[in-house]
Amino acid sequence: MAFDLVVKNITLPNGKTRMDIACKNGKISAIENNINAEAKTIIDGEGFLVSPPFVDPHFHLDATLSLGRPRMNVSGTLLEGIGLWGELKPIQTVEEIVERALKYCDLAVAMGIGAIRSHVDICDDELKGVEALLAVKKQVAPYLELQLVAFPQDGFYRCATAEQNLIRSLDMGVEVVGGIPHFERRMDEGAASIKALCEMAAQRDLMVDMHCDETDDPMSRHVETLAFETQRLGLQGRVTGSHLTSMHSMDNYYVSKLIPLLAEAELHAIANPLINIMLQGRHDSYPKRRGQTRVPELRAAGINVAFGSDCVMDPWYSLGKACMLDVAHMGLHVAQLSSREDMAWCFDAVTKNAAKAMGLKNYGLKKGCDANFVLLQASDTIEAIRLRANRLAVVRGGKIIAKTPRQETELFLPRRPDILDPANYSPT
Ligand code: FE2
Repeated sequence: MAFDLVVKNITLPNGKTRMDIACKNGKISAIENNINAEAKTIIDGEGFLVSPPFVDPHFHLDATLSLGRPRMNVSGTLLEGIGLWGELKPIQTVEEIVERALKYCDLAVAMGIGAIRSHVDICDDELKGVEALLAVKKQVAPYLELQLVAFPQDGFYRCATAEQNLIRSLDMGVEVVGGIPHFERRMDEGAASIKALCEMAAQRDLMVDMHCDETDDPMSRHVETLAFETQRLGLQGRVTGSHLTSMHSMDNYYVSKLIPLLAEAELHAIANPLINIMLQGRHDSYPKRRGQTRVPELRAAGINVAFGSDCVMDPWYSLGKACMLDVAHMGLHVAQLSSREDMAWCFDAVTKNAAKAMGLKNYGLKKGCDANFVLLQASDTIEAIRLRANRLAVVRGGKIIAKTPRQETELFLPRRPDILDPANYSPT
C-alpha cells in the first residue's frame, strides 16, 4: 500500500525511539519500526520527537494582537485590563477582529497548535466578536479547530444585556457556555449565574467553560457551586473551571474538602500559567502570592488539568508568541513540577489533557487518529519544554502545512588545542 506521507526515525512522547509514522487519506495508518512501503512523501525525522498537535484550551482570539489599542495597561492588573478592553470594544470593527484573529491563527499553526478554545466576549450588543470569530472559525477549519465559548466578560447579571446576547450568540453557533461568577456584583449573584448558565448548557446539550474564581480572594468559592451544578444537571466530564486562582490562597482545610468534590463532578481544570503569574498577587506587598491554582493536588485527585495561554499581546498581557511550550515551561516552574515524571506531565498539559478538556475527537498518535502531528527539534518531551523546541514540521491531515528550518548555531571561538586534546589533558 502506498502511503501519502511517512516520517521515518522519530521518537514518540512515550519515549519509544526509531519509530516511523505513516499517513493515508488524512488518518494515521501505522506507527511502527521500519515502515518500508512506498509513500508520496518521505521525511527523515532524524530521531526527533513527534508529538500530537499542541492544544490551547483557553484563549481570547477577539482581543489578541490588540496591544496598545487604544492605550497600554499601566497598572498591569486584571481589572485595568478589563477596563481597557471595555474602551476597545466599541471602537473596533468586525474586520479588524477578523484580521487580528487570522494573523494569530497563522502564528498558532506555525507553532504547532492544532486546536484552540477561544472565549468570545458577548457583552458587546452588536456581537462583533461573535460575528468575526464565527467567520474565522469557518475559514481556518481545514487546518485549525476552533471552539468558541460565549463569554459574558462584564458579568452575566452585572451587564444588563449579557443574558440575551449570550442566548443570541449560542443561536448563531457558539458552542460552549461561559461565565465569570467572581465578577458579578455579589457572591449570591455569582452562584445564581452558574446555576442559570449550567441549566442553559444542559438544555442545549453544550459544554461549559467558566472563568471561575480568577482572583486572589480566598473566599471566592464559586468552583464549589460549579461542581454542584455539574452534578445536579448530569454534566459530568463536560464542564471546565478556568483559572481557579483563588484556590492558591484558600484555607488548606477547605481545599481538602473541595478537591474531592471537583473530582466527583469530573470537572476539568485549566490553569493559565503565564497570565496567572503576571496578574495575580498584584495587591500583595511581600511575600507575593503566585496565584496559580493547585495543579499537583488537583492532578493527584485524578482531575484532568490542562494549561492554556489565555492572552497574547492584548490588554492583559504584552508578550506571548503562541508557544504552548512557553506555557508548559512557566506552569512547570510556578507549580515546582521538577521531577522527570512531573516535567513530562507538563507536556501532556498542553497536548492530550487540553484535548480532553475540549472533547476533541480522533486526537492522538494512534492508528486511525487524524494524521495531525508536529515534528519537534528535541529528543523528548522534557527537552522540548527546556528548549521551547523548534517546530520543524507541522502535519495536518497527512500533509505538511508548516515548516521551520532546523536551528543550528556555528561557533567561531579560539580554543587551546593542548586542553582539548585528551592526551594532553591533566586535571592537575
Ligand atoms: Fe481568559
